[in-house]
Amino acid sequence: MNILLLGSGGREHAIAWKIAQSPKVDQLFIAPGNAGTAQTGTNVNIKADDFPAIKDFVQSNHVDMVVVGPEDPLVKGIYDYFKDDVRLSSVPVIGPSKAGAQLEGSKDFAKAFMVRHHIPTARYKSITAENLEEGLAFLETLEAPYVLKADGLAAGKGVLIVDSLEEAKRELSEMLRGMFGDASKTVVIEEFLDGIECSVFVVTDGKDYKILPVAKDYKRIGEGNTGLNTGGMGAVSPVPFADHEFMQKVEERIIRPTVKGLAEEKLDYAGFIFFGLINVKGEPMVIEYNCRMGDPETEVVMLRIQSDLVELLEGIAHHDLASRILLQDPRYAVTVMLVSGGYPEAYEKGKEITGLDKVSPENILFHAGTKSVDGKLLTNGGRVIAISSYGETKDEALAKSFAGAKAVQFDKKYFRRDIGFDL
Ligand code: AMP
Ligand code: GLY
Repeated sequence: MNILLLGSGGREHAIAWKIAQSPKVDQLFIAPGNAGTAQTGTNVNIKADDFPAIKDFVQSNHVDMVVVGPEDPLVKGIYDYFKDDVRLSSVPVIGPSKAGAQLEGSKDFAKAFMVRHHIPTARYKSITAENLEEGLAFLETLEAPYVLKADGLAAGKGVLIVDSLEEAKRELSEMLRGMFGDASKTVVIEEFLDGIECSVFVVTDGKDYKILPVAKDYKRIGEGNTGLNTGGMGAVSPVPFADHEFMQKVEERIIRPTVKGLAEEKLDYAGFIFFGLINVKGEPMVIEYNCRMGDPETEVVMLRIQSDLVELLEGIAHHDLASRILLQDPRYAVTVMLVSGGYPEAYEKGKEITGLDKVSPENILFHAGTKSVDGKLLTNGGRVIAISSYGETKDEALAKSFAGAKAVQFDKKYFRRDIGFDL
């Protein structure tokens, strides 16, 4: 079969790497991809949310399945675009409908969904300019720190956690006045939850589900989880505290009611669900839903899926996931992200990347922001390359990735040397 994968980051390179190993695949296309995906398939110069161009490509290249990496095309309705077009409706899109993607596209929707289905999450109130007074009063009932979330997609920047009540009140008003554009016309105010986070991923065909390897990502730029939030500086899988007992609770209280709730509410959903969880004294609670895989979690999760990923994708597409096989690799997998100096604030692009020939064959490199120009590999984003490795222990895997992180060179390279420190 021929598969078209949409997206251009480390997550997509990792998915492409895994798909390319499947004997079921003839051709793998990645739109738009990066210099790394070009090594595992054929890059296509189409943006991941240019639906008409994707349609033309799918028809002229006999694409049998579209796999969506990032949230944007899903929230914009690529599933529905295919389903509603007589010439495209036979091509499955791996990912939810626009209505289902609201689990990520609207925090207000996600919170109300969790309340309807008794899924454990932080206490909250949704506020608009019309009920600002209620928001200010709700903040008074909470203890510091205060969590304010833009309802809509804000490129991972829409969450503020502030220490003082006065600041929280001020930020709430600023958000409603358009700090994040339309995304913050509605703001979700949440009770702060104290605990350690992990990322749980499932694939679902709308009826059944399978739980993928659990991972933990490291979002802050600085060591010891300090400084600004980034797209993710590294990840580890498995997560020791997500043990059998914890995962039992996650499955019963969170995964099952979510999949059942989507079906009951007739929200078409056949794809990945990403549960951002927090462990509050042994009790899992949902921080957020995403309608896609995590980045950089995917750069470890794909290593730990031992069986054929395409088998699962077919199960999603044909709604027969229950009969499909998922085998997990028992080893640890870690990834360390090399980023451009200055990221997540201003940084430079176009720096030459060298030293790839000095990297051990035990490192698996997933390109995040790279491009190839005249035979040279150049940086092309804040996150540049993720260095993934296996190990019998977390520390063994990390030692391999850190060695790889040192071998790869580019001007102003930075990476966190403490990935996994808190596990
Ligand atoms: P989100 O985009 O909803 O995942 O939020 C971004 C980050 O903010 C999360 O990964 C958490 O680290 C933090 N966060 C969000 N909501 C809460 C909460 N209710 N309590 C504590 N931390 C939170
Ligand atoms: N690593 C978190 C995310 O992908 O949203």
